[in-house]
Amino acid sequence: MKIGNVELKNKVFLSPMAGVTDLPFRLICKEQNCGMLYTEMINAKALCYDDENTKKMLKIEEEEHPVAVQIFGSDPEYMGKAANIMNEYPNEILDINMGCPAPKVVKNGDGSALMKNPKLAAEVLTAVVKNSEKPVTLKIRKGWDDNTINAVEIAKIAEECGISALAIHGRTREQYYSGKADWDIISEIKQNISIPVIGNGDVFTVEDSINMLEKTNCDAIMIGRGAQGNPWIFKRINHYMQTGEILPEPTIEEKINTAIKHLGLAVEEHGEYVAVREMRKHVAWYLKGLRNSARVRDEINKIESYEEVVSKLNGYMQDCLTLE
Ligand SMILES: Cc1cc2nc3c(=O)[nH]c(=O)nc-3n(C[C@H](O)[C@H](O)[C@H](O)COP(=O)(O)O)c2cc1C
Repeated sequence: MKIGNVELKNKVFLSPMAGVTDLPFRLICKEQNCGMLYTEMINAKALCYDDENTKKMLKIEEEEHPVAVQIFGSDPEYMGKAANIMNEYPNEILDINMGCPAPKVVKNGDGSALMKNPKLAAEVLTAVVKNSEKPVTLKIRKGWDDNTINAVEIAKIAEECGISALAIHGRTREQYYSGKADWDIISEIKQNISIPVIGNGDVFTVEDSINMLEKTNCDAIMIGRGAQGNPWIFKRINHYMQTGEILPEPTIEEKINTAIKHLGLAVEEHGEYVAVREMRKHVAWYLKGLRNSARVRDEINKIESYEEVVSKLNGYMQDCLTLE
């Protein structure tokens, strides 16, 4: 499939996730045949002010492409400037966040709050499209709450403003991540616009991905929580689409070795102190559902050195294999 002039290898994408989709995790997902990687959301204003931490989040490696960088903000001027700055970066796609529910974001009118103001939303979209030399995409929710469901209206505005593809997460802001994602809104949007529609929300298995594609007729799917500790989901979905065969779940060795590799990449990127701490949640996700994993997870949460985490994970793997 294509977004604007960007040819994508497949239609299974990694969702943008703040605190999760940093460079090391993106590289791990790419190895498993993810069709497009999204960065964590980037504050447009901070980018305009040349903030060092923000710039660090924009490091993109050669093997990652194609990559979408996601920006957020509700000031058309800053969003336009940020789009201009991003022209100098190697990402293929520029994505706009209109779905973030976090209080610290919506209190400034950013993220999902922008959906409440379609006129301002249109100004933001126009400013970004005008300043970007790359295709611009938009990610939205269903609406603010059950009384203000306006995803179709925003999708139509987006198409008129020159947006090249639209990702829709079928929950309202008020729902956060609770309840079930509404896939009917994905179908409804698909019927109302002609740019590619990317379905998002509650894809955790190969079966879920096929159901979403069949039920909504969306052009691509985007996976967030289903990829946490489970980057194999991309390969397994693509394999099923190509062959009709479901690959086995990853083995314990694959899980632990990937966790160790991920940790190594995180240490390279963030340094040992930050990486060991940042990796605790990822390690817990890799180990989820494995025998006695709660104990080893709790132990790893107290460890501060790379070597010790690796040794603990290897020891745990040996225990699991002996018991098999
Ligand atoms: C930890 C976390 C961080 C997230 N950060 C972002 C973000 O930066 N930008 C964004 O558009 N959505 C963000 N999301 C929402 C996801 O991209 C996705 O829309 C949502 O999780 C639903 O998809 P899923 O059911 O596949 O997880 C985040 C979700 C989670 C769980």
